[in-house]
Amino acid sequence: MGRWIADRARVRAARGGSRATRVAAGLYDLASNDYLGLARDPRLAAAAAAAEAEFGTSAAASRVVVGTLAVHEELEAALCRLTRREHALAFSSGYAANLGLLASLGGPGTLMVLDEHAHASLIDGARLSRSGTRTAAHNSCDDVARLLAGRREPRAVVAVESVYSVLGDAAPLARLAEVCAEHDAVLVVDEAHSIGVHGAGSVHAAGLAGDPRVVVTATLSKALGSQGGAVLGAGDFGAALRDHLVNTARTFVFDTGLAPGAAAAAAEAARIAAADGSLPDRLAARSRQIVAALAPVAELDVGCGAVHSARIGSAAAAADAAGQLRRLGIAAGCFRPPSVPDGVSRLRFTARAAQDRHELGRALAVVADVLTTIDRQEPAA
Ligand SMILES: Cc1ncc(COP(=O)(O)O)c(C=O)c1O
Repeated sequence: MGRWIADRARVRAARGGSRATRVAAGLYDLASNDYLGLARDPRLAAAAAAAEAEFGTSAAASRVVVGTLAVHEELEAALCRLTRREHALAFSSGYAANLGLLASLGGPGTLMVLDEHAHASLIDGARLSRSGTRTAAHNSCDDVARLLAGRREPRAVVAVESVYSVLGDAAPLARLAEVCAEHDAVLVVDEAHSIGVHGAGSVHAAGLAGDPRVVVTATLSKALGSQGGAVLGAGDFGAALRDHLVNTARTFVFDTGLAPGAAAAAAEAARIAAADGSLPDRLAARSRQIVAALAPVAELDVGCGAVHSARIGSAAAAADAAGQLRRLGIAAGCFRPPSVPDGVSRLRFTARAAQDRHELGRALAVVADVLTTIDRQEPAA
């Protein structure tokens, strides 16, 4: 086994695909998902501390044993108010929410159609579900319609992200919802990169918050500055789905409930995000600043929210560019296959409401220099 692991590491390194855990303290942050700057907000820290004082540091059991606390119910209500949905179920992470939801919706008799850029947690959920799974071309409603029309399975689920985590672009939600309605399919929308960034989220913006056929998944670890995930539904189907998940989602039933501090911090963040419309505006201004600085010097996938990615090419070149930036004091996301199914490795830059305009400007000047000079194919030996 030891030799096999060492061989795998050598193959990864040769492809420029090695990853590592590193403390990023001291680097200018162009990589994190703390989009609204709430992860360091004293109001969240105070809410977490109060919940820990009241409930302890752990839920100490599964939600279906004795791990459901008042703070979980407050969180679920706050998420419903923020997203204008009626039913919510909190999970211990966004990953667990996607795994639990798709595994519980699927099985023999269900076809899962996933956008080709869908997040790993949606892919893994579809795999776990043992459903027939098909991949649709990115953001192609025609392809989704074709796959649904040709299915043999009586049930179908289409899973997309409202804002894609690497490309940063938006899914055509209104049209996808129509296609799903025409073909009697449920539309699962992962709003990880939209809730908070776009206020109540893209599903609400598309006029779909009340649509029972649309199921939303959320992470509490990005704009909401905490940890955890949720599934949000509407109408009778949303209520039945919540009950179905409480009974069948293995990542809910067999997992300790979300820690009280994380639940309380996320609930506070949801309240702040619902009340303070200036945060998305500040974020949007920083986002425009990133695009203005980098679009002239890079092949930029310009996002609709906080995420923008520069196409680099080979995995090795992307890793090399990220390393150069790190040595210059800047943290950027480095996305290589399999995170990028089209095989184009990218550096990802994220906007945050808390970024100072002048500091961001200085960091972007350094990034622009590096992007102008890098070798987009292979780094020098
Ligand atoms: C689109 C998407 N869905 C789900 C997740 C998982 O969320 P969490 O970090 O809360 O597990 C992520 C996080 O990277 C994501 O980008």
